Amino acid sequence: CHECGNSGHPSCLQYSPALVERIKAEPWLCLECKKCMSCDQAANADDLLICDSCDKGFHMDCLDPPLNQLPEGRWICPICVPPPNRRRGMNKSGGSHFLTPKRPRKTAGYYSDYDGYTPLPKKRKKTDLDDLDYDDVVEQNIQPQLPPGVTESDLELFKKAQERALASMATSINGKTLDPMARSPPLIEFGKYEIKTWYSSPYPQEYAILPRLVLCEFCLKYMKSRNILRTHRDKCQWFHPPGNEIYRKGELSVFEVDGMASKIYCQNLCLLAKLFLDHKTLYYDVEPFLFYVLTKNDRKGCHLVGYFSKEKSCQQKYNVSCIMTMPQYQRQGFGRFLIDFSYLLSRVEGQPGSPEKPLSDLGRISYHSYWKSVIMEYLYNTTSSKISIRTISQDLGMDPHDVAATLQMLSMIR
Ligand code: ACO
Ligand code: ZN
Repeated sequence: CHECGNSGHPSCLQYSPALVERIKAEPWLCLECKKCMSCDQAANADDLLICDSCDKGFHMDCLDPPLNQLPEGRWICPICVPPPNRRRGMNKSGGSHFLTPKRPRKTAGYYSDYDGYTPLPKKRKKTDLDDLDYDDVVEQNIQPQLPPGVTESDLELFKKAQERALASMATSINGKTLDPMARSPPLIEFGKYEIKTWYSSPYPQEYAILPRLVLCEFCLKYMKSRNILRTHRDKCQWFHPPGNEIYRKGELSVFEVDGMASKIYCQNLCLLAKLFLDHKTLYYDVEPFLFYVLTKNDRKGCHLVGYFSKEKSCQQKYNVSCIMTMPQYQRQGFGRFLIDFSYLLSRVEGQPGSPEKPLSDLGRISYHSYWKSVIMEYLYNTTSSKISIRTISQDLGMDPHDVAATLQMLSMIR
């Protein structure tokens, strides 16, 4: 479970192969941790109706129209069955046919009590729709009909507006324009900033598809709307990253956050960082890492500027696994500050280090610039008549290969 770390065999949970494939792509939540997708409230395990297609939960009261008794057999939620298909299946009273007795559904009492996740025997009637899987459901949605009162020209107008919105969400990095359709989500709201993303991040599907994802800038929890954030901020006790504040000067602080102790925060930090990194693969396996989080502080709290992660014990002697400055703080020297901080840690450890490869384009620019300047400064200040790559490496905490490569780039050695 993405939230509490609990586990269950898909077979013991009676998940179909299609469902297993689907939930592998997203953080899975156990029944104890599931929330209602509609009201976002945590629920008693017995209160949620679970979708057979995506495993998401809904309160029966929160459905539109609400359900007053448990459906039997297979049940598919409104997210998996988008409106056009529902329209096709409207019954006479205007309700969706997915909520009428014709449709096979699953009962909410799918699991027994928390411990062991022993599945309850399923009592259900076999119907012709039992063999329908998620792909079939999606397949049926390919050709939506226009709702009553909506004309072809309305549709055209809507498409044009959508294209203009997409064009305004397009962003460019290093001269390359990134397709907003290819990024999910294309925008995030973070504190007082609205930030265009650069790459996609594997947020759960129903969050990733939103045109704008809202984050709590302190605990990094992601939410669907400002209203939900407002309610969250009333409850959220966080005003700085978890962990120990290990550095403070003026308005800047660095917090050392242990991936083991603050798993959810670190996972959310990784998901956020992925929006600005194209090759990062670490999202959920955060326990073996420490996260050094740089903040700028004011009366409201400690605002996230950037971070780097570092493996607690690394065979390859990497001193940085991933580094990121939030776009609103980039090109102000914070990346250099974080890089310098990582080498300071390496010097304290007495173990020269190097960033994990491959470096991104911006990572390469930042590291090369840093290496050049610290080595030149070292050479300028040194009083010794004999200099070796090894002593430079030891004194700066830099991997000797990086020292040699930098001297070569500067045409100082052959
Ligand atoms: N174009 C050209 N040069 C740039 C750019 C840019 N867009 N951004 C930074 N630089 C240069 C700066 O001019 C500076 O060089 P200088 O000291 O010679 O003037 C140097 O890079 C560092 O600049 P900072 O302001 O200190 O760095 P910043 O706070 O912008 O952070 C970072 C750099 C972390 C790489 C940031 O660009 C970022 O978060 N990028 C997205 C994530 C990423 O690519 N991370 C690195 C992945 S590799 C790894 O994780 C090991
Ligand atoms: Zn919060």
